[in-house]
Amino acid sequence: MKRIKAIYPGSFDPPTNGHLDLIERGSKIFDELVVAILRNLEKAPLFSVAERRNMLESMTSGFDNVSVETFDGLTVEYAMKVEASAVLRGIRAISDYEYELQMALMNRKLQPSLETVFMMPAEKYSYVSSRLVREVAQLGGNIDCLVPELVAQKLREKMDPALKFVDVERLEQKTSERERKSRSRKKRS
Ligand code: PNS
Repeated sequence: MKRIKAIYPGSFDPPTNGHLDLIERGSKIFDELVVAILRNLEKAPLFSVAERRNMLESMTSGFDNVSVETFDGLTVEYAMKVEASAVLRGIRAISDYEYELQMALMNRKLQPSLETVFMMPAEKYSYVSSRLVREVAQLGGNIDCLVPELVAQKLREKMDPALKFVDVERLEQKTSERERKSRSRKKRS
């Protein structure tokens, strides 16, 4: 039986709950789904490609048929290279449609055998975009519920690098507390 492999290309700067919602939906209809992060040297991203890859890998670790890769150049060429037969893209609102249609038709012109499949994320994410999440986070607004907790933490660290060390300290405190308890248990036994 033919197995259908799809790529889900994007910038993912940062990945949001809307992306995750789409990945989950895509993982149910495709046999294999590759989340493909564009390595775009022109844009100055907030998160490095490695950071985005790490976040997406953690977010998707529960899906057996989802992997995370990076690519540059044309999406259609990357799709051919990994032997994917479909490109997954999300449409949140009619405003996305024009750009997505243009891209899908251009991709079809470049590679007629590659199909673009549009899926809609849950309505509750219809206003969530990486650009707005970045802007709200940069201005100190609350981005919980818009991105996974891990991404929210990374965004807070970006905005205030000192938080990284606060968390490490908290983690270290917890670890030494656990070690102390285990030592005293051993002594008693
Ligand atoms: O998350 P984004 O920024 O909306 O993703 C856009 C992306 C990466 C899918 C698009 O820019 C793309 O495919 N870039 C790769 C270069 C390419 O193939 N350009 C022609 C697209 S028709």
